[in-house]
Amino acid sequence: MAIPLIIDTDPGVDDAFAIALAARSPEVELKGLTTVFGNVGLDLTTANALRLLAHLGRTDVPVVRGFEGPGGAADVHGEDGLGGQALTLPENPKGVHGEDPVRFFADNLTPDTMVAAIGPLTNIAAALEAGIEFPRLIVMGGGLGIGNMTVRAEFNFWADAAAARTVIRRGNPIVVPLNLTQQCIADTEFLANVDPVLSNLTGTYREYLARHSEQNLSGREEGILVHDAVAVAEAIVPGTLSLRVHGLDIDDEGALVGGKHQVEVAEDCDWPALRAFMEQRLSV
Ligand code: BDR
Ligand code: CA
Repeated sequence: MAIPLIIDTDPGVDDAFAIALAARSPEVELKGLTTVFGNVGLDLTTANALRLLAHLGRTDVPVVRGFEGPGGAADVHGEDGLGGQALTLPENPKGVHGEDPVRFFADNLTPDTMVAAIGPLTNIAAALEAGIEFPRLIVMGGGLGIGNMTVRAEFNFWADAAAARTVIRRGNPIVVPLNLTQQCIADTEFLANVDPVLSNLTGTYREYLARHSEQNLSGREEGILVHDAVAVAEAIVPGTLSLRVHGLDIDDEGALVGGKHQVEVAEDCDWPALRAFMEQRLSV
């Protein structure tokens, strides 16, 4: 039986790869996308989620518009969040399904539902504050002693530090941090072999990473860091990532710091094997 999966997302180029990976993996049944501000503002992340589903032939998947905030990574993902190529994706005739992610989680979480949160954690924290419990929550975010927004803060946690703190303290998440994802580069060969519509979204992001080589810990020269797809892979095939419990908290800047909250952190993976898995699933 396929595992029900909801993705909370701010597409975003690596979000697009993560959503496509889930949509093309029979191990999971994509039950919905909840959108949040992040890489760009909420109108664009929501529009991008809808168009990506239309491209993937999955207009059956509901899109729920979540919380707004200051969108902040146009230099990484392009002004439209998808490398200036969002309008190359087809329109989705369905439009948004609703505007209340907390209600959507309340109505749709079953005891075996996985939620992968791959943007700022505003929707997830609001649900926790409303008393919702996530049976299994996987979060892409944070860095142990490293950051990509400040020296110590990663973008998703930095964008809503209070929400990140709520999730670390009360959400019982698996955290997939930069320390792992900055080693997972989808190189130019990978991008040449997968769905060309997805590869076509990556230009701005590739150029950004070429200018910021300190964010690429892979040893490979060029490509994109597929942060969010690494986290979603753990939802698709649990055990893909090696986990270890750390005592953690979040400071006011949104940095992961040592603390008393016991949190599972993804520390390692067999990247060549995971890269091959993604390449196979994302080929058309
Ligand atoms: C995270 O921030 C965003 O820019 C990416 O989509 C990813 O979720 C990486 O720090
Ligand atoms: Ca993201």
